[in-house]
Amino acid sequence: MDDQAKDRNYLFKYNTLIFRPVDMKNIAVFASGEGSNARQLIDYFKVHPHIRVTLIVTNNPKAKVIELANEAGISALIFNKQQFTETTQLLDELRIKKIDLIALAGFLWLIPNPLIKAFPNKILNIHPALLPKYGGKGMYGSAVHKAVIADKETYSGISIHFVNEKYDEGQILLQVKCQVDSGETTESLAVKIHQLEHANYAHAIEDLLCE
Ligand code: GAR
Repeated sequence: MDDQAKDRNYLFKYNTLIFRPVDMKNIAVFASGEGSNARQLIDYFKVHPHIRVTLIVTNNPKAKVIELANEAGISALIFNKQQFTETTQLLDELRIKKIDLIALAGFLWLIPNPLIKAFPNKILNIHPALLPKYGGKGMYGSAVHKAVIADKETYSGISIHFVNEKYDEGQILLQVKCQVDSGETTESLAVKIHQLEHANYAHAIEDLLCE
C-alpha cells in the first residue's frame, strides 16, 4: 500500500493505529470523445474522501480519455462492439474493480441489458439538451446543438439521467438550463453546455452516491 493509500485508510493517533472503515465508492467512466467530462470527473474525485474514478472504458482506441487515464494512473479498457455486446468481459471487469456507479460521458453505444440489470439505477448519462426533446439515436454533440438552434429554442441545457435500454429515455435526475441567445452558433452553444456539464455532473454523482 502506498503512502497516500495508507493516509486514506488509517488514522494515526497517539501512536495508535486505528482502522478507518474503507468506504470508498468506485466509478467507471465510459467515454469515447474529447473527454472533457471524463477529465472533470477524474479531477474532482481525485481528492474526494469517499469517491474515486477507478476505471475508464472506451470503444475508441484513439480516445483522449486513454491518455487522461494513463496520466492519472487509472486503468483504461478498450472494447470492440462484439466484446461489448456479446461477452461478459466488461461485466467481469466491473465486478473485479468493485465498481459502484457507471458514468457515461460522451459514450454513444446503447448499454447492453445485462449491464443495466447488474447496475440498477447506477448508470448515469449526461446529455447536452433538455430531454425528452433532442434525444435518441444520432443525437450527439453538435447535432443536438444544431437542431436546437434550427428550432429557434430560447433555452437549451443539460440532462443527467439514469440509463435504461433505450437511448436517452431513462428517468431524469437533474436538468439545468441555459439561454440560447440570438446569433448563437453550434460552437458557442457547445461551450455553454460544456460549462454546465462540468459544473454539475460530479455534484450529481456525489449526491447520488453519498445520499
Ligand atoms: C457531452 O457534451 C455530452 O453531453 C455528449 O457528448 C459530449 C462529450 O463531451 N453526450 C451525448 O451527446 C450523448 N447523447 P466530452 O467528450 O468533452 O466530455
